[in-house]
Amino acid sequence: MSKTKIGAQAFLYPMPMAVIGAHVKEKPNYLAAAWLTRVNFNPPMIGVALGKVHFTNRGIREHLEFSVNIPDLDGMAAADYVGLVSGMKTDKSWLYKAFYGELTHAPMIENCPLTMECRVTQIVDLPSNEFVIGEIVNAYCDESCLTDGIPDITKIRPFALTMPDNRYWEIGEMAGKAWSVGRKIQKG
Ligand SMILES: Cc1cc2nc3c(=O)[nH]c(=O)nc-3n(C[C@H](O)[C@H](O)[C@H](O)COP(=O)(O)O)c2cc1C
Repeated sequence: MSKTKIGAQAFLYPMPMAVIGAHVKEKPNYLAAAWLTRVNFNPPMIGVALGKVHFTNRGIREHLEFSVNIPDLDGMAAADYVGLVSGMKTDKSWLYKAFYGELTHAPMIENCPLTMECRVTQIVDLPSNEFVIGEIVNAYCDESCLTDGIPDITKIRPFALTMPDNRYWEIGEMAGKAWSVGRKIQKG
């Protein structure tokens, strides 16, 4: 197969789309984030790579708390909006109805079907970003999006991002059972 060298970029196809919430100057502020991942199994931790310049980072650094909210397809425009404008210049607190769990500075979004409140455990300083690692204190899911007590992707209807083409994608059909389909392979 002929391969084309396409330059040094982090092509992760696709990335999960989320909205990060934090309190900045005692008001909720939100930003769109797709550079995020699970980083520890036990205790459960999530890491998100934030550009150093963002307004949200100030609140995260001050209170060491933030939320991760998974929007559904209907929440795409709002999630995109909080990625287009900065709280530095524009108040974004009105956009979402916030609710709180155990943490008082991690505003979670009512109309996101799946949300997590996180306590910062570490901030890794990188050349242009800071990688914020948070321990998940609690997760919340709309009851209507659970199947047998587990968040159900077909009910949540999350969406994904690809870069550098900057497009959002719906999740398609289930393609296989993980930790299972590989069992049929045997050394020949
Ligand atoms: C689709 C999308 C994904 C984004 N992902 C990230 C990300 O993972 N990390 C980041 O730092 N900024 C990301 N951004 C940019 C911020 O959301 C954006 O700069 C935002 O306006 C910052 O808001 P703030 O200054 O109020 O914190 C993304 C923007 C969009 C539209």
